[in-house]
Amino acid sequence: MFISLEGIDGSGKSTQARLLAQHLRARGHEVVLTREPGGSPGAEEIRRLLVEGRGERWSPEAELLLFNAARRDHLERTIRPALARGAVVVSDRFADSSRVYQGAARGDLRTLVDSLHALVIGVEPDLTLVIDLDPAQALARTSMRDAGDHAGVRPAPAGAAQSPPANGPEDRFESMGLPFQMRLRGGFRALADEFPDRVRLIDGSGDPEGVAARVRAALPAALA
Ligand code: TYD
Repeated sequence: MFISLEGIDGSGKSTQARLLAQHLRARGHEVVLTREPGGSPGAEEIRRLLVEGRGERWSPEAELLLFNAARRDHLERTIRPALARGAVVVSDRFADSSRVYQGAARGDLRTLVDSLHALVIGVEPDLTLVIDLDPAQALARTSMRDAGDHAGVRPAPAGAAQSPPANGPEDRFESMGLPFQMRLRGGFRALADEFPDRVRLIDGSGDPEGVAARVRAALPAALA
């Protein structure tokens, strides 16, 4: 079984992916918890090109090709082998992020996103949980998290002098602002209408345990 978690920046999906993996492991499943961009050594290298630096560093088209390169490697090296041995794969983001970020919110590239996906990826999760949260609340969460992060001593990101990021080393997309995050939220909600058999919207407000209970309630009987 292949499960993806999706949502805007700061929606809490990474926490939920971790809690879901813990829950499934406690029930005896082998779980591979992974993420995009990244999830394999090569894709983690491509990740740095995508999430660091200035917003305008890549055109939406060039960015989409990099996400697909990373996703193909992730699929070949991590996802397919795990599914083949019967593990449950929980991925923090997958192709729906490209549909929404590159396809709807950054440029009107949805046709290109779908064509590339069909040509080089061709796989959908069995279940996609969209952690739905108001972007203003999500932004407040990321600012709190960043304040905590920056309290420690962290090395300056490589290349920072030429290309200073807005808020932190991995904030390229967060730096695009609240109206961008609002378009993203609309894009994720529209996916639930487009793929009703696969995509479930989960209310992401409130404490993480409450959200985790809603995530568990959305699991198919075989896993829950
Ligand atoms: P992520 O590590 O999930 O960031 P966060 O934990 O802050 O939500 O993802 C990094 C960024 O990459 C995120 O802002 C969304 C973006 N992204 C895309 O634009 N397209 C994609 O296909 C993927 C997988 C991610």
